[in-house]
Amino acid sequence: MTAPALPAAELAALADPAAYDLTDPQTFDDNDPHEMWRPFRAHNPVFWHAPRDGKPGFWVLTKYDDIMAAYRDNKRYTSERGNVLSTLLLGEDSAAGKMLAVTDGPRHREIRNLMMKSFSPRVLAPVVENVQKLTDRLISEAVEEGEVDFVTAVADRIPIHTIGDLMGIPAGDREQLVDWNAQTLSRYSADDGEEVSLMARNEIILYISGLMAERRRNPGEDVLSTLATATVDGEPLTEEEIIYNAYSLILGGDESSRATASGIVHAFSLYGDQWRRLKNAEVTLESATEEVMRWTTPTMHFGRHALTDIPIRDHVVKAGEIVTLWNSSANFDEDAFADPYTFDLGRTPNKHVSFGHGPHFCLGAYLGRVHMISMLESLRTRVAGIELLAPPTRLFSNFANGHATLKVRLTPQA
Ligand code: HEM
Repeated sequence: MTAPALPAAELAALADPAAYDLTDPQTFDDNDPHEMWRPFRAHNPVFWHAPRDGKPGFWVLTKYDDIMAAYRDNKRYTSERGNVLSTLLLGEDSAAGKMLAVTDGPRHREIRNLMMKSFSPRVLAPVVENVQKLTDRLISEAVEEGEVDFVTAVADRIPIHTIGDLMGIPAGDREQLVDWNAQTLSRYSADDGEEVSLMARNEIILYISGLMAERRRNPGEDVLSTLATATVDGEPLTEEEIIYNAYSLILGGDESSRATASGIVHAFSLYGDQWRRLKNAEVTLESATEEVMRWTTPTMHFGRHALTDIPIRDHVVKAGEIVTLWNSSANFDEDAFADPYTFDLGRTPNKHVSFGHGPHFCLGAYLGRVHMISMLESLRTRVAGIELLAPPTRLFSNFANGHATLKVRLTPQA
Protein backbone atom coordinates (compact mmCIF):
# COMPACT_ATOMS: atom_id res chain seq x y z
CA MET A 1 0.00 0.00 0.00
CA THR A 2 1.28 3.41 -0.83
CA ALA A 3 0.35 6.93 0.21
CA PRO A 4 -0.47 8.87 -2.94
CA ALA A 5 1.31 12.22 -3.01
CA LEU A 6 -0.33 14.15 -5.83
CA PRO A 7 -1.05 17.86 -6.41
CA ALA A 8 -4.61 18.90 -5.47
CA ALA A 9 -5.84 19.27 -9.07
CA GLU A 10 -4.71 15.80 -10.02
CA LEU A 11 -6.19 14.38 -6.85
CA ALA A 12 -9.55 16.03 -7.63
CA ALA A 13 -9.59 14.47 -11.11
CA LEU A 14 -9.15 11.05 -9.52
CA ALA A 15 -12.29 11.45 -7.40
CA ASP A 16 -14.39 10.21 -10.29
CA PRO A 17 -17.21 7.81 -9.30
CA ALA A 18 -17.43 6.51 -12.87
CA ALA A 19 -13.87 5.19 -12.61
CA TYR A 20 -14.72 2.45 -10.10
CA ASP A 21 -17.38 -0.25 -9.97
CA LEU A 22 -17.63 -0.99 -6.27
CA THR A 23 -19.97 -3.91 -6.91
CA ASP A 24 -17.24 -5.73 -8.80
CA PRO A 25 -14.67 -7.62 -6.64
CA GLN A 26 -12.18 -7.16 -9.47
CA THR A 27 -12.05 -3.44 -8.66
CA PHE A 28 -10.40 -4.30 -5.35
CA ASP A 29 -7.84 -6.55 -7.03
CA ASP A 30 -6.97 -3.89 -9.58
CA ASN A 31 -6.65 -0.83 -7.33
CA ASP A 32 -4.60 0.20 -4.32
CA PRO A 33 -7.28 1.12 -1.74
CA HIS A 34 -5.44 4.24 -0.61
CA GLU A 35 -4.98 5.55 -4.12
CA MET A 36 -8.67 4.90 -4.70
CA TRP A 37 -10.16 6.42 -1.52
CA ARG A 38 -7.91 9.35 -0.73
CA PRO A 39 -9.04 11.56 -3.67
CA PHE A 40 -12.70 10.92 -2.79
CA ARG A 41 -12.22 11.91 0.85
CA ALA A 42 -10.53 15.12 -0.26
CA HIS A 43 -12.81 16.13 -3.15
CA ASN A 44 -15.96 14.02 -3.34
CA PRO A 45 -16.52 12.53 0.13
CA VAL A 46 -20.17 11.58 -0.43
CA PHE A 47 -21.03 10.36 -3.91
CA TRP A 48 -23.67 8.49 -5.86
CA HIS A 49 -22.54 5.20 -7.39
CA ALA A 50 -24.64 5.01 -10.54
CA PRO A 51 -26.76 1.91 -11.32
CA ARG A 52 -24.83 -0.64 -13.38
CA ASP A 53 -25.67 -3.94 -15.05
CA GLY A 54 -29.24 -3.88 -13.73
CA LYS A 55 -28.09 -3.25 -10.16
CA PRO A 56 -29.47 -0.18 -8.37
CA GLY A 57 -27.34 2.84 -7.56
CA PHE A 58 -26.20 3.65 -4.03
CA TRP A 59 -24.54 6.33 -1.94
CA VAL A 60 -20.92 5.95 -0.92
CA LEU A 61 -19.65 7.51 2.33
CA THR A 62 -15.88 7.82 2.64
CA LYS A 63 -15.36 10.15 5.65
CA TYR A 64 -14.88 8.77 9.16
CA ASP A 65 -17.37 11.18 10.81
CA ASP A 66 -20.14 10.53 8.27
CA ILE A 67 -19.63 6.78 8.59
CA MET A 68 -19.68 6.84 12.40
CA ALA A 69 -22.86 8.95 12.34
CA ALA A 70 -24.55 6.45 10.02
CA TYR A 71 -23.47 3.43 12.13
CA ARG A 72 -24.89 5.16 15.22
CA ASP A 73 -28.22 6.05 13.66
CA ASN A 74 -30.69 3.17 13.63
CA LYS A 75 -33.67 5.55 13.60
CA ARG A 76 -33.08 7.03 10.14
CA TYR A 77 -31.28 3.99 8.71
CA THR A 78 -32.25 0.33 8.73
CA SER A 79 -30.25 -2.88 8.37
CA GLU A 80 -33.40 -4.89 7.72
CA ARG A 81 -33.00 -4.78 3.93
CA GLY A 82 -29.41 -6.03 4.06
CA ASN A 83 -26.14 -4.71 5.52
CA VAL A 84 -23.60 -5.73 2.85
CA LEU A 85 -23.67 -4.81 -0.84
CA SER A 86 -24.56 -8.32 -2.01
CA THR A 87 -27.89 -8.20 -0.13
CA LEU A 88 -28.44 -4.41 -0.18
CA LEU A 89 -28.50 -4.48 -3.98
CA LEU A 90 -31.17 -7.19 -3.94
CA GLY A 91 -33.22 -4.93 -1.66
CA GLU A 92 -33.86 -7.71 0.79
CA ASP A 93 -32.15 -10.17 3.10
CA SER A 94 -33.94 -13.43 3.77
CA ALA A 95 -32.75 -13.28 7.39
CA ALA A 96 -34.23 -9.78 7.98
CA GLY A 97 -35.96 -9.40 11.33
CA LYS A 98 -34.49 -12.70 12.52
CA MET A 99 -30.70 -12.47 12.35
CA LEU A 100 -29.14 -9.89 14.68
CA ALA A 101 -27.11 -8.02 12.06
CA VAL A 102 -30.17 -7.47 9.85
CA THR A 103 -32.74 -6.82 12.58
CA ASP A 104 -33.57 -3.46 14.15
CA GLY A 105 -35.81 -2.12 16.88
CA PRO A 106 -36.94 -3.96 20.03
CA ARG A 107 -36.40 -7.46 18.56
CA HIS A 108 -32.75 -6.57 17.84
CA ARG A 109 -32.25 -5.52 21.46
CA GLU A 110 -33.94 -8.67 22.80
CA ILE A 111 -31.90 -11.09 20.70
CA ARG A 112 -28.69 -9.12 21.26
CA ASN A 113 -29.16 -9.15 25.05
CA LEU A 114 -29.75 -12.86 24.96
CA MET A 115 -26.69 -13.58 22.84
CA MET A 116 -24.47 -11.20 24.82
CA LYS A 117 -24.70 -13.57 27.77
CA SER A 118 -22.74 -16.13 25.77
CA PHE A 119 -20.12 -13.52 24.84
CA SER A 120 -19.01 -12.18 28.22
CA PRO A 121 -15.30 -12.62 29.00
CA ARG A 122 -16.23 -14.86 31.95
CA VAL A 123 -18.29 -17.31 29.86
CA LEU A 124 -15.69 -17.22 27.10
CA ALA A 125 -12.71 -18.03 29.35
CA PRO A 126 -12.40 -21.71 28.27
CA VAL A 127 -12.85 -20.78 24.61
CA VAL A 128 -10.11 -18.17 24.94
CA GLU A 129 -7.73 -20.68 26.47
CA ASN A 130 -8.28 -23.00 23.50
CA VAL A 131 -7.66 -20.15 21.04
CA GLN A 132 -4.31 -19.42 22.70
CA LYS A 133 -3.26 -23.08 22.74
CA LEU A 134 -4.32 -23.75 19.16
CA THR A 135 -2.68 -20.58 17.83
CA ASP A 136 0.56 -21.39 19.57
CA ARG A 137 0.54 -24.98 18.31
CA LEU A 138 -0.16 -23.97 14.70
CA ILE A 139 2.50 -21.25 14.73
CA SER A 140 5.02 -23.69 16.21
CA GLU A 141 4.21 -26.26 13.50
CA ALA A 142 4.46 -23.62 10.78
CA VAL A 143 7.84 -22.50 12.10
CA GLU A 144 9.05 -26.10 12.12
CA GLU A 145 7.94 -26.47 8.52
CA GLY A 146 9.69 -23.20 7.62
CA GLU A 147 7.98 -22.40 4.32
CA VAL A 148 4.19 -22.38 4.46
CA ASP A 149 1.08 -20.89 2.95
CA PHE A 150 0.08 -19.03 6.10
CA VAL A 151 -3.59 -18.99 5.02
CA THR A 152 -4.03 -22.76 4.90
CA ALA A 153 -1.42 -23.64 7.53
CA VAL A 154 -2.61 -21.23 10.22
CA ALA A 155 -5.21 -18.52 9.45
CA ASP A 156 -7.84 -20.92 8.06
CA ARG A 157 -7.59 -23.26 10.99
CA ILE A 158 -8.17 -21.09 14.06
CA PRO A 159 -11.47 -19.15 14.10
CA ILE A 160 -13.66 -22.05 13.08
CA HIS A 161 -12.48 -23.97 16.14
CA THR A 162 -13.44 -21.00 18.29
CA ILE A 163 -16.92 -20.94 16.81
CA GLY A 164 -16.94 -24.72 16.88
CA ASP A 165 -16.17 -24.68 20.62
CA LEU A 166 -18.77 -21.96 21.20
CA MET A 167 -21.48 -23.87 19.36
CA GLY A 168 -20.44 -27.44 20.07
CA ILE A 169 -19.83 -28.26 16.39
CA PRO A 170 -18.29 -31.74 16.06
CA ALA A 171 -14.56 -31.51 15.18
CA GLY A 172 -14.99 -33.62 12.03
CA ASP A 173 -17.47 -31.16 10.48
CA ARG A 174 -15.45 -28.00 10.95
CA GLU A 175 -13.26 -28.16 7.85
CA GLN A 176 -16.27 -28.45 5.58
CA LEU A 177 -17.83 -25.42 7.25
CA VAL A 178 -14.69 -23.33 6.65
CA ASP A 179 -14.87 -24.25 3.02
CA TRP A 180 -18.55 -23.30 2.60
CA ASN A 181 -17.99 -20.15 4.59
CA ALA A 182 -15.12 -18.93 2.43
CA GLN A 183 -17.46 -19.24 -0.53
CA THR A 184 -20.37 -17.26 0.93
CA LEU A 185 -19.06 -13.70 1.17
CA SER A 186 -15.86 -13.87 -0.76
CA ARG A 187 -14.99 -16.21 -3.52
CA TYR A 188 -11.68 -17.91 -4.07
CA SER A 189 -11.34 -16.53 -7.57
CA ALA A 190 -13.15 -14.73 -10.37
CA ASP A 191 -13.93 -18.12 -11.95
CA ASP A 192 -16.44 -19.12 -9.24
CA GLY A 193 -19.95 -17.84 -10.00
CA GLU A 194 -22.40 -16.17 -7.62
CA GLU A 195 -24.38 -19.39 -7.44
CA VAL A 196 -21.40 -20.93 -5.62
CA SER A 197 -21.93 -18.41 -2.79
CA LEU A 198 -25.64 -19.08 -2.67
CA MET A 199 -25.24 -22.85 -2.57
CA ALA A 200 -22.63 -22.61 0.18
CA ARG A 201 -24.96 -20.43 2.26
CA ASN A 202 -27.76 -22.97 1.89
CA GLU A 203 -25.43 -25.81 2.88
CA ILE A 204 -24.51 -23.98 6.09
CA ILE A 205 -28.14 -23.30 6.96
CA LEU A 206 -29.09 -26.90 6.33
CA TYR A 207 -26.21 -28.10 8.48
CA ILE A 208 -27.18 -25.85 11.39
CA SER A 209 -30.82 -26.82 11.30
CA GLY A 210 -29.81 -30.46 11.71
CA LEU A 211 -27.58 -29.59 14.65
CA MET A 212 -30.29 -27.40 16.22
CA ALA A 213 -32.85 -30.21 16.15
CA GLU A 214 -30.33 -32.42 17.91
CA ARG A 215 -29.60 -29.75 20.59
CA ARG A 216 -33.29 -29.27 21.27
CA ARG A 217 -33.46 -32.94 22.16
CA ASN A 218 -30.15 -32.94 24.06
CA PRO A 219 -29.21 -29.43 25.15
CA GLY A 220 -25.62 -28.79 26.27
CA GLU A 221 -23.68 -25.75 27.47
CA ASP A 222 -22.98 -24.33 24.00
CA VAL A 223 -24.44 -21.18 22.38
CA LEU A 224 -26.57 -23.17 19.97
CA SER A 225 -28.22 -24.95 22.91
CA THR A 226 -28.74 -21.57 24.60
CA LEU A 227 -30.41 -20.18 21.48
CA ALA A 228 -32.44 -23.35 21.02
CA THR A 229 -33.79 -23.33 24.58
CA ALA A 230 -33.94 -19.57 25.42
CA THR A 231 -37.16 -17.64 25.89
CA VAL A 232 -37.94 -13.92 25.56
CA ASP A 233 -41.00 -12.92 27.63
CA GLY A 234 -41.79 -16.59 28.01
CA GLU A 235 -41.70 -17.24 24.24
CA PRO A 236 -38.98 -19.40 22.67
CA LEU A 237 -37.08 -18.03 19.66
CA THR A 238 -38.46 -19.22 16.34
CA GLU A 239 -36.55 -21.93 14.48
CA GLU A 240 -35.55 -19.39 11.86
CA GLU A 241 -34.21 -17.01 14.52
CA ILE A 242 -32.11 -19.78 16.02
CA ILE A 243 -30.74 -20.99 12.71
CA TYR A 244 -29.97 -17.55 11.32
CA ASN A 245 -28.26 -16.35 14.49
CA ALA A 246 -26.16 -19.47 14.75
CA TYR A 247 -25.30 -18.98 11.08
CA SER A 248 -24.29 -15.38 11.72
CA LEU A 249 -21.77 -16.53 14.33
CA ILE A 250 -20.12 -18.87 11.85
CA LEU A 251 -20.13 -16.15 9.24
CA GLY A 252 -19.02 -13.28 11.45
CA GLY A 253 -16.64 -15.28 13.55
CA ASP A 254 -14.73 -17.06 10.86
CA GLU A 255 -14.06 -14.92 7.84
CA SER A 256 -12.98 -11.64 9.45
CA SER A 257 -10.71 -13.24 12.03
CA ARG A 258 -9.04 -15.29 9.30
CA ALA A 259 -8.57 -12.19 7.21
CA THR A 260 -6.89 -10.37 10.07
CA ALA A 261 -4.56 -13.27 10.88
CA SER A 262 -3.10 -13.35 7.38
CA GLY A 263 -3.12 -9.54 7.32
CA ILE A 264 -0.88 -9.41 10.40
CA VAL A 265 1.75 -11.67 8.87
CA HIS A 266 1.62 -9.86 5.54
CA ALA A 267 2.06 -6.50 7.28
CA PHE A 268 5.06 -7.72 9.26
CA SER A 269 6.66 -9.16 6.13
CA LEU A 270 6.58 -5.62 4.71
CA TYR A 271 7.25 -3.49 7.77
CA GLY A 272 10.36 -4.84 9.49
CA ASP A 273 10.57 -1.80 11.79
CA GLN A 274 7.17 -2.61 13.34
CA TRP A 275 8.06 -6.29 13.58
CA ARG A 276 11.13 -5.32 15.61
CA ARG A 277 9.01 -3.09 17.87
CA LEU A 278 6.75 -6.05 18.56
CA LYS A 279 9.69 -8.42 19.09
CA ASN A 280 11.43 -6.00 21.46
CA ALA A 281 8.21 -5.48 23.45
CA GLU A 282 8.35 -1.75 22.70
CA VAL A 283 4.56 -1.77 22.24
CA THR A 284 1.77 -3.50 24.14
CA LEU A 285 -0.05 -6.40 22.49
CA GLU A 286 -3.26 -4.42 23.00
CA SER A 287 -2.14 -1.36 21.03
CA ALA A 288 -0.55 -3.59 18.37
CA THR A 289 -3.89 -5.41 18.03
CA GLU A 290 -5.83 -2.18 17.48
CA GLU A 291 -3.38 -1.00 14.83
CA VAL A 292 -3.51 -4.33 13.04
CA MET A 293 -7.31 -4.10 13.07
CA ARG A 294 -7.14 -0.60 11.56
CA TRP A 295 -4.41 -1.46 9.06
CA THR A 296 -6.02 -4.64 7.76
CA THR A 297 -9.67 -3.45 7.96
CA PRO A 298 -10.99 -7.02 7.49
CA THR A 299 -14.49 -5.92 6.44
CA MET A 300 -14.22 -3.22 3.79
CA HIS A 301 -17.80 -1.97 3.93
CA PHE A 302 -21.20 -2.30 5.54
CA GLY A 303 -24.40 -0.57 4.50
CA ARG A 304 -27.94 0.48 5.27
CA HIS A 305 -31.18 1.67 3.64
CA ALA A 306 -32.34 5.19 4.46
CA LEU A 307 -35.78 5.26 6.14
CA THR A 308 -36.25 8.98 5.61
CA ASP A 309 -34.56 11.81 3.69
CA ILE A 310 -31.12 12.39 5.25
CA PRO A 311 -28.94 15.39 4.45
CA ILE A 312 -25.21 14.53 4.36
CA ARG A 313 -22.79 17.32 3.45
CA ASP A 314 -23.93 18.76 0.06
CA HIS A 315 -26.36 15.93 -0.68
CA VAL A 316 -29.72 14.61 0.44
CA VAL A 317 -30.07 10.85 0.62
CA LYS A 318 -33.68 10.03 -0.24
CA ALA A 319 -35.83 7.65 1.79
CA GLY A 320 -35.42 4.12 0.45
CA GLU A 321 -31.96 4.65 -1.01
CA ILE A 322 -28.93 2.50 -0.20
CA VAL A 323 -26.03 4.03 1.73
CA THR A 324 -22.69 2.21 1.93
CA LEU A 325 -20.13 2.90 4.68
CA TRP A 326 -16.54 2.24 3.61
CA ASN A 327 -14.47 1.20 6.62
CA SER A 328 -11.48 0.83 4.32
CA SER A 329 -11.64 4.58 3.74
CA ALA A 330 -12.69 5.71 7.25
CA ASN A 331 -9.76 3.91 8.87
CA PHE A 332 -7.33 6.02 6.81
CA ASP A 333 -9.14 9.36 7.06
CA GLU A 334 -6.56 12.12 7.56
CA ASP A 335 -9.06 14.03 9.73
CA ALA A 336 -9.45 11.12 12.16
CA PHE A 337 -5.96 9.57 12.28
CA ALA A 338 -2.60 11.32 12.46
CA ASP A 339 -0.33 10.09 9.69
CA PRO A 340 -2.86 7.43 8.61
CA TYR A 341 -0.65 5.67 6.03
CA THR A 342 1.95 4.83 8.65
CA PHE A 343 1.61 1.38 10.21
CA ASP A 344 2.35 2.29 13.82
CA LEU A 345 1.82 -0.40 16.45
CA GLY A 346 2.02 2.18 19.22
CA ARG A 347 -0.71 4.39 17.71
CA THR A 348 -2.86 6.12 20.28
CA PRO A 349 -5.64 7.10 20.19
CA ASN A 350 -6.83 4.57 17.64
CA LYS A 351 -10.60 4.70 17.25
CA HIS A 352 -10.81 2.55 14.10
CA VAL A 353 -14.18 1.41 12.74
CA SER A 354 -13.14 -2.17 12.01
CA PHE A 355 -15.72 -3.52 14.48
CA GLY A 356 -18.39 -1.05 13.40
CA HIS A 357 -20.03 1.30 15.88
CA GLY A 358 -23.36 1.92 17.60
CA PRO A 359 -26.24 -0.52 18.06
CA HIS A 360 -24.81 -3.15 15.69
CA PHE A 361 -21.25 -2.93 17.07
CA CYS A 362 -19.61 -6.32 16.58
CA LEU A 363 -20.87 -8.83 19.12
CA GLY A 364 -17.67 -10.85 18.75
CA ALA A 365 -15.23 -7.94 19.14
CA TYR A 366 -13.77 -9.37 22.33
CA LEU A 367 -13.22 -12.75 20.65
CA GLY A 368 -11.84 -11.10 17.53
CA ARG A 369 -9.32 -9.26 19.68
CA VAL A 370 -8.43 -12.46 21.53
CA HIS A 371 -7.56 -14.05 18.19
CA MET A 372 -5.31 -11.14 17.30
CA ILE A 373 -3.56 -10.93 20.66
CA SER A 374 -2.91 -14.69 20.67
CA MET A 375 -1.49 -14.49 17.15
CA LEU A 376 0.78 -11.55 17.99
CA GLU A 377 1.99 -13.24 21.15
CA SER A 378 2.83 -16.54 19.45
CA LEU A 379 4.53 -14.79 16.53
CA ARG A 380 6.57 -12.71 18.94
CA THR A 381 7.78 -15.66 21.00
CA ARG A 382 8.17 -18.38 18.32
CA VAL A 383 9.23 -16.51 15.18
CA ALA A 384 12.50 -14.66 14.58
CA GLY A 385 11.74 -13.41 11.06
CA ILE A 386 8.98 -13.38 8.42
CA GLU A 387 9.88 -13.39 4.74
CA LEU A 388 7.43 -13.18 1.85
CA LEU A 389 8.15 -15.93 -0.72
CA ALA A 390 5.71 -14.87 -3.44
CA PRO A 391 3.26 -12.03 -4.05
CA PRO A 392 0.15 -12.89 -1.99
CA THR A 393 -3.25 -13.28 -3.64
CA ARG A 394 -6.36 -11.55 -2.29
CA LEU A 395 -9.73 -13.12 -1.59
CA PHE A 396 -11.91 -12.17 -4.54
CA SER A 397 -14.31 -9.88 -2.73
CA ASN A 398 -15.64 -6.34 -2.34
CA PHE A 399 -16.34 -7.09 1.32
CA ALA A 400 -13.68 -9.28 2.97
CA ASN A 401 -10.17 -7.92 2.90
CA GLY A 402 -8.15 -11.10 3.27
CA HIS A 403 -5.77 -13.38 1.46
CA ALA A 404 -6.41 -16.50 -0.60
CA THR A 405 -2.69 -17.37 -0.42
CA LEU A 406 0.22 -15.99 1.57
CA LYS A 407 3.46 -17.92 1.08
CA VAL A 408 6.01 -17.07 3.73
CA ARG A 409 9.19 -18.37 5.34
CA LEU A 410 9.10 -18.25 9.13
CA THR A 411 12.47 -18.51 10.85
CA PRO A 412 12.42 -20.03 14.33
CA GLN A 413 13.23 -18.03 17.40
CA ALA A 414 16.48 -19.36 18.85
C1 HEM B 1 -21.20 -7.25 13.65
C2 HEM B 1 -16.55 -6.86 12.21
C3 HEM B 1 -15.42 -10.94 14.62
C4 HEM B 1 -20.15 -11.73 15.32
C5 HEM B 1 -20.02 -6.76 13.12
C6 HEM B 1 -19.89 -5.46 12.49
C7 HEM B 1 -18.58 -5.36 12.08
C8 HEM B 1 -17.89 -6.58 12.46
C9 HEM B 1 -17.94 -4.18 11.36
C10 HEM B 1 -20.99 -4.41 12.31
C11 HEM B 1 -21.93 -4.74 11.15
C12 HEM B 1 -22.96 -3.66 10.89
O1 HEM B 1 -22.92 -2.59 11.50
O2 HEM B 1 -23.83 -3.87 10.02
C13 HEM B 1 -15.85 -7.94 12.74
C14 HEM B 1 -14.42 -8.14 12.62
C15 HEM B 1 -14.10 -9.29 13.32
C16 HEM B 1 -15.33 -9.81 13.86
C17 HEM B 1 -13.47 -7.23 11.87
C18 HEM B 1 -12.77 -9.98 13.57
C19 HEM B 1 -11.61 -9.53 13.40
C20 HEM B 1 -16.60 -11.51 15.06
C21 HEM B 1 -16.70 -12.72 15.82
C22 HEM B 1 -18.05 -12.96 15.99
C23 HEM B 1 -18.77 -11.85 15.36
C24 HEM B 1 -15.51 -13.55 16.31
C25 HEM B 1 -18.75 -14.08 16.68
C26 HEM B 1 -18.27 -15.14 17.15
C27 HEM B 1 -20.82 -10.57 14.94
C28 HEM B 1 -22.27 -10.40 15.07
C29 HEM B 1 -22.58 -9.11 14.59
C30 HEM B 1 -21.30 -8.52 14.18
C31 HEM B 1 -23.26 -11.44 15.60
C32 HEM B 1 -23.96 -8.44 14.52
C33 HEM B 1 -24.17 -7.57 15.74
C34 HEM B 1 -25.47 -6.79 15.70
O3 HEM B 1 -26.02 -6.58 14.61
O4 HEM B 1 -25.96 -6.39 16.77
N1 HEM B 1 -18.79 -7.41 13.10
N2 HEM B 1 -16.37 -8.98 13.47
N3 HEM B 1 -17.85 -11.00 14.81
N4 HEM B 1 -20.28 -9.42 14.41
FE1 HEM B 1 -18.31 -9.15 14.04
